[in-house]
Amino acid sequence: MHGQFTVGLIVAYTAYLGILQAPIRQVTGLIQQLQQATVSFERIETLQAAVPRVVSPPNAIKLARFHDRIQFDRVGFSYDPSVPVLKNIDFSLAKEQVIALVGSSGAGKTTITNLLDRFYDPTEGKITLDGVDLRQADLESLRQQIAIVSQDVILLDGTIKENLEYGTPNASEAAIWQAAEAANIATFIRDLPDGLATQVGERGIRLSGGQKQRIAIARVFLKNAPIVILDEATAALDNESERFVQASFDRLMADRTSLVIAHRLSTVRHADNILILEHGEIVESGTHDQLMAQNGRYKELYDLQFT
Ligand SMILES: Nc1ncnc2c1ncn2[C@@H]1O[C@H](COP(=O)(O)OP(=O)(O)OP(=O)(O)O)[C@@H](O)[C@H]1O
Ligand SMILES: [Mg+2]
Repeated sequence: MHGQFTVGLIVAYTAYLGILQAPIRQVTGLIQQLQQATVSFERIETLQAAVPRVVSPPNAIKLARFHDRIQFDRVGFSYDPSVPVLKNIDFSLAKEQVIALVGSSGAGKTTITNLLDRFYDPTEGKITLDGVDLRQADLESLRQQIAIVSQDVILLDGTIKENLEYGTPNASEAAIWQAAEAANIATFIRDLPDGLATQVGERGIRLSGGQKQRIAIARVFLKNAPIVILDEATAALDNESERFVQASFDRLMADRTSLVIAHRLSTVRHADNILILEHGEIVESGTHDQLMAQNGRYKELYDLQFT
């Protein structure tokens, strides 16, 4: 305006202005990232500061390999003090026996298995394993004894091999294949272009329900725990994969002690003892034949499925 600026100076000025803008924008971007990181960090801190409610007591008893029996002694439990979930649960499971839990949804079947693995402690009564109250047992020595195939199998975003080894970090390649074989999943893995190195995707999204279950079963074979909990999936599998899963379940239960939650009554027919659970209480128990003769709730459930 006053004739003092040359064209060159104006060009240089706008160029410098442009160069100045970029770092300013970067700084504001950084502030945003910092804020996000602060929030995430707080969440991580909360998680890390969480104190487990269930811990090994001082002078915990290290459990030897399971050899005698599990005893539920008038066990009562509630997640929320005002809502009782289990009442007066009393049963015993001897070595190499199979106990089946049957009952409608929400009856408390999964909760019983949560107590056996000591994810929670009973609010009444006690659970003993070979005569040791679970609350007095060393937690690690307890959990080493028990393997679970849960209702909804959770796979980690990684390879099939990593998912199989989870729980048994030092397994040999041969042991892994043996477990896969026993779980009826070896052929499937062998036919994959990447074999054991195949990525399963987030939560195992690239596998079918039946394949995921068989991977979970293989994991249990690999862990080789003396006690197994099978929480049968409620989601229906097609007949073919159900046959595969059933065959590997049967192999898994042979010479192990099992607690089986069955939605398909065909699974429970051969159990040594069947417990019928209603609203957190055992309303009937016995073998298949005894319960059929009793003509009670079990027979009712059975007839519903097969007629
Ligand atoms: N983590 C939890 N916190 C609070 N309540 C829970 C929790 N888990 C289960 N419950 C409640 O406890 C009761 C028993 O649940 P549980 O999962 O044992 O049923 P289930 O017999 O396994 O049923 P399903 O056949 O559907 O698997 C239900 O009423 C449920 O709402
Ligand atoms: Mg359940």
